[in-house]
Amino acid sequence: MSFDRRTFLKIGSLAAAGSSFNILEAAAQQSGGGSTSANDHLQFALIGAGIQGQNDTRVAVQVPGVKLVAVADCYDGRLARAKELWGNDLFTTRDYREILSRKDIDAVIIATPDHWHKQAACDSMSAGKDVYLEKPMIHLYSDGPKIIETARSTNRILQVGSQRVSSVIYSKAKELLASGAIGELNMVTARWDRNSSMGAWNYTVPADANTETCDWPRFLGSAPQIPWNAERFFQWRKWTDYGSGVAGDLFVHLFSGTHFITGSKGPTRAMATGGLRFWKDGRNVPDVLLALFDYPEGFNLSLRVNFVDGGDESEGFLFTGSEGTMEIAGQTVTVTRAPREKEPGYGVGTFTNEMQQRTIELYRKKYPAMQPTGKPYNSIEKYSAPRGYSDSFDHFSNFFASVRSRKQPVEDATFGFRAAGAALLSNLSMEKGSVIHWNPETMKIG
Ligand SMILES: NC(=O)c1ccc[n+]([C@@H]2O[C@H](COP(=O)([O-])OP(=O)(O)OC[C@H]3O[C@@H](n4cnc5c(N)ncnc54)[C@H](O)[C@@H]3O)[C@@H](O)[C@H]2O)c1
Repeated sequence: MSFDRRTFLKIGSLAAAGSSFNILEAAAQQSGGGSTSANDHLQFALIGAGIQGQNDTRVAVQVPGVKLVAVADCYDGRLARAKELWGNDLFTTRDYREILSRKDIDAVIIATPDHWHKQAACDSMSAGKDVYLEKPMIHLYSDGPKIIETARSTNRILQVGSQRVSSVIYSKAKELLASGAIGELNMVTARWDRNSSMGAWNYTVPADANTETCDWPRFLGSAPQIPWNAERFFQWRKWTDYGSGVAGDLFVHLFSGTHFITGSKGPTRAMATGGLRFWKDGRNVPDVLLALFDYPEGFNLSLRVNFVDGGDESEGFLFTGSEGTMEIAGQTVTVTRAPREKEPGYGVGTFTNEMQQRTIELYRKKYPAMQPTGKPYNSIEKYSAPRGYSDSFDHFSNFFASVRSRKQPVEDATFGFRAAGAALLSNLSMEKGSVIHWNPETMKIG
């Protein structure tokens, strides 16, 4: 399946700051894949059939030449739901090892809670399966080297599931930055704000949740062995035993984007602050988190997640350079170029009349007046993905293409560790109340 990275649509290019855009109808269409012959057919399984596992699978099955054959999950209701969605022929189990022992499965999607990522990924690769592993790749720092090493030693494809890495908009942003569209990058700011209960992870606990329908010991895995708790099972992100707070859940997307677009391997220093401001429901992770990072390429990154922001969910990036800014919002990237002034300017109003005149005369000798005078106009260029564009589809197309070609995926384990490892520095900084140093080359703390 081929896909066209240039499948974005330039929807505006003007030479006057503040002008509104007449958005043109989308002309480009996402490239469709040709049909794959029967012997090219790939069979995959889903491990962890919750919200994202089902979302991922809905998209993955649209990639030509692939078929879902099995699903593993710890809640029977989700296994039953998988059959409703993808047919009664589906093999379902609570124990993913039953999937891994099957010879007819080439690849797995892993969308379990984070504390299962390393184990499920390494078990899958050791059983000869290629892996699409949801973000964040790690739950603990020790997971990173283990996953990287297992992918290497088993010669398996492992792609991490930050779908934006395959987005045509992020590709366009990368191209624009590299072409010098905003000059030298000096700062990136990114945010992910939400203002709803579901946005703050209070996912619905089904009416039949109990120890008969939910395999609690299998859910717990290596986490502390505690009595059945339905909230922890269905809203696991709220506790560090299973997730890593907003840093692991959302900062990681912002790191994947920043690293993909800038080509950087990661920050060298991190400092973070935040707190639990509103959702005081027993969770042990903050709902407001602010963090700052130094990048060796000479720019700073500032990140924010706020789950009580009083507005609608909003997410986006602003890249600031010496000659302009580049904003990513939704499926659009906008470059606003502010050409640098040709002369330094003057401010003489506090001087005497005589001194004003003399100073301006001297200034104009040095900088002869140009026509037209004044600040140059900003220029604005805007690019948008075609309507209905899905970066998840491209990310799955890329994954299955790697499974076939055996070429490295767009987002391999090293990229995944560099994004998640950087994100979790924020938690460490909060916990220790200090700056945390990170080596983005070796991916080690300190
Ligand atoms: N890429 C994205 O945009 C994106 C979006 C949402 C979630 N995610 C990631 O997807 C993962 C799942 O998140 P979710 O929101 O779908 O959670 P969820 O709770 O809805 O689903 C997790 C499922 O995993 C099952 N599970 C738990 N332990 C298991 C085990 N040992 N074997 C098999 N199944 C097991 C649970 O029963 C549950 O159904 C997380 O890592 C999350 O960060 C990624």
